[in-house]
Amino acid sequence: MIDDLWYKNAIIYCLSVGTYMDANGDGIGDFKGLLRRLDYLHGLGITTIWLMPFQTSPGRDDGYDVADYYSVDARYGTLGDFVEFTHGCEQRGIRVIIDLVVNHTSDQHPWFKAARSDRNSPYRDWYVWSDKKPANANQGMVFPGVQKSTWTRDKEAGAWYFHRFYDFQPDLNTSNPRVQAEILKIMGFWIQLGVSGFRMDAVPFVIATKGAKVKKPAEQYDMLRTFREFLQWRQGDAIILAEANVLPKTDMEYFGRDADRMHMMFNFQVNQHLFYALASSDSRPLAQALKATKPRPASAQWGLFLRNHDELDLGRLTEAQRDRVFKCFGPDKDMQLYNRGIRRRLAPMLGGDRRRLELAYSLMCTLPGTPVIRYGDEIAMGDDLSLPERNCARTPMQWSTEPNGGFTISDTPALPVISEGPYGFEHVNVAKQRRDPNSMLNWTERIIRMRKEVPEIGWGDFTIIRTRDPAVLIIRYDWRNNSVLFVHNLDEKPRETAFSVQLPGDVGEHLINLLAENHSHADKRGQHRVVLEPYGYRWYRVGGLDYLLKRSEIETR
Ligand code: BGC
Ligand code: CA
Repeated sequence: MIDDLWYKNAIIYCLSVGTYMDANGDGIGDFKGLLRRLDYLHGLGITTIWLMPFQTSPGRDDGYDVADYYSVDARYGTLGDFVEFTHGCEQRGIRVIIDLVVNHTSDQHPWFKAARSDRNSPYRDWYVWSDKKPANANQGMVFPGVQKSTWTRDKEAGAWYFHRFYDFQPDLNTSNPRVQAEILKIMGFWIQLGVSGFRMDAVPFVIATKGAKVKKPAEQYDMLRTFREFLQWRQGDAIILAEANVLPKTDMEYFGRDADRMHMMFNFQVNQHLFYALASSDSRPLAQALKATKPRPASAQWGLFLRNHDELDLGRLTEAQRDRVFKCFGPDKDMQLYNRGIRRRLAPMLGGDRRRLELAYSLMCTLPGTPVIRYGDEIAMGDDLSLPERNCARTPMQWSTEPNGGFTISDTPALPVISEGPYGFEHVNVAKQRRDPNSMLNWTERIIRMRKEVPEIGWGDFTIIRTRDPAVLIIRYDWRNNSVLFVHNLDEKPRETAFSVQLPGDVGEHLINLLAENHSHADKRGQHRVVLEPYGYRWYRVGGLDYLLKRSEIETR
């Protein structure tokens, strides 16, 4: 397979323009501010920026309610600023992917306004209507507890409209060929302006059959092929990264058996079981999740993440597993959301414990896929639980000890900057961590550098190596006659673990530590014995004797 598939060995960093850096002092982050921070991101080593929605929007769901797909919201700048930004990225070799939110529009979108005001409008059929209240109107809410129904009566339209999400987000009738054509046009537009692809929002809902009579929505997978085909015609190396929290048995439907659908998907299955592993120190369900999500076309890739801008959704765990994670990471009702998840940021969930943070990051970087980092996690930012719903984990980036963390010179930032306490910008900020070689920021930079030097993870085949100890996870990758091996101790106690590495043509006698000097050499029986610190981790390259000899030659020279 050719190496051109850039997303196989990428480091993705996601951010919201509005909370990253404010250049004009109005309290809202903007493209000019982001442009000034590109060297920071370049220095961190990330290769791809995923921008959350920045198009014109009433902003009632943080931009996931789009009112004009072909524009930049005036609060963030202009299309001109956007192009300056993508150009700045291109100069630094950074790719940009953007959110594509086409399951629904804002109710303020001109299409919806036209559709609701006139039964005969050509846009009427762009949405999903019913004259009577559908029987299942109280089912299928994505935000239970906040959202009351999936159908709402619109006075102006004299009919009910379908909305999988909030009532101000009417679902597009994605089965309508005109709507599909428009989706392609939106993709084409942003591709032309320099993006390398899309994080496609809510994919299972985009492709679901919709309507008052639909009892059990069916997935129209062919749509995915249409999207991909178009994209590849326009720009061969552009990708779609699908947000699809689905069961492993349908993964292949999304990737396409002929690798003709989604290039990437977020691995929600692994995400949830990873948090369970961190909570319980038991790696077995995580190993199961890794095996269950193993099948995928060679060119396809998983997006591996810890926390994102939404709640940590634990809906795929068993009740007992979920309770365990709640108890460990979000015991208060106020930390939980939608009866299924935790809305906190990573660092406070892990008690700000540097060892656990490193363990979590090390896992994210070494499990099969491409890591997706949430902005602020590189400095272990906290959350503000006084903010509603998911906003608690969307506070502005903390740059320095200046007022409002250097995010804005305005006294009224769009969302409050976290101040005071252990996660306040006074303590947790980029400027301070930059000066400290042992800071989280500098550690993250080093781990990203090393991750990029281990393409085996993104490209190779993995094997989980058996150990007797459920707290220890060992995973090996093989690619082009190279092998790497990662060992993680999920427990708070130190562990000694023994294992052997059997490879064709290499007995795996020597393991070269990629992060420190303590290498491992097998005993006569071919066994490696490694003592791991509490929450300890090791990155090894399986090295032949040649390598070691060469090394000692150099050292004694
Ligand atoms: C996004 C959410 C958003 C929803 C509606 C999602 O799955 O990640 O942040 O609220 O889609 O667009
Ligand atoms: Ca601004």
